[in-house]
Amino acid sequence: MPRALLVPGSSLHDGASLRAGSPLDRRALLRLLGRASAGAAGLALFGACGDGGGGLEVDGGGQVDATVLPDGAICRATTADVLGPYHRSGAPSRTMIAAATEAGDRLALDGVVLADDCTTPLVGAVLDVWQADAAGAYHEPDAAGGPYRLRGKVTAAADGTWMVDTIRPGNYQTGPGAWRPAHLHVIVSHPGYRTVTTQLYFAGDPYLPPNDSCTTCGSDDPARIIPLTARAGGGLAGELRIVLARA
Ligand SMILES: [Fe+2]
Repeated sequence: MPRALLVPGSSLHDGASLRAGSPLDRRALLRLLGRASAGAAGLALFGACGDGGGGLEVDGGGQVDATVLPDGAICRATTADVLGPYHRSGAPSRTMIAAATEAGDRLALDGVVLADDCTTPLVGAVLDVWQADAAGAYHEPDAAGGPYRLRGKVTAAADGTWMVDTIRPGNYQTGPGAWRPAHLHVIVSHPGYRTVTTQLYFAGDPYLPPNDSCTTCGSDDPARIIPLTARAGGGLAGELRIVLARA
């Protein structure tokens, strides 16, 4: 299965081109990838394959990694995002990372972790999740190792599926008048695949780009902006497919 890193200098199906060595705006890159995934244009876009150098470095997001599938479709790995200062190791394994008493709108997120063929489930993939509370505050585990409020690790099942039972995090300020869109942080890992550290956003958030105060974050990637729907029993629901690139 050929895997490709987006290489400057590749030409586009419609005649546009990426000039070698020229800076490419991250947003423009994601637009190009969106077009590429729609069909044959992707084959021209990903003209060179391999794991080595030449991949395009994208600010805040690392390399954009993709696989050309036998039918010509593009399987794109989940992109990276900023780690941020609030990750703490040692979170417990649990799907319910927000206690029943946690204030906020309940949020049920589920999805699947797939290999870079966008088909093979990655059983046992671990998602290390942490987030702010409904008011936008992060909480530290105490000295005794608990309670890891709004933190937890979930493991993908035999079919690659996973779920997180939580609350919708709040927006938070990073400075006067500077806000971040609501997000969950997650580190996804599986043996034999590249660990991805990223953030998950929600459609309709007023602080998504161009209003995200974090200009190096990857909140402009539509593959990580989750549409939320109201659940019949109350609360919100959303789903996300995560794809890991081979190590
Ligand atoms: Fe954050």
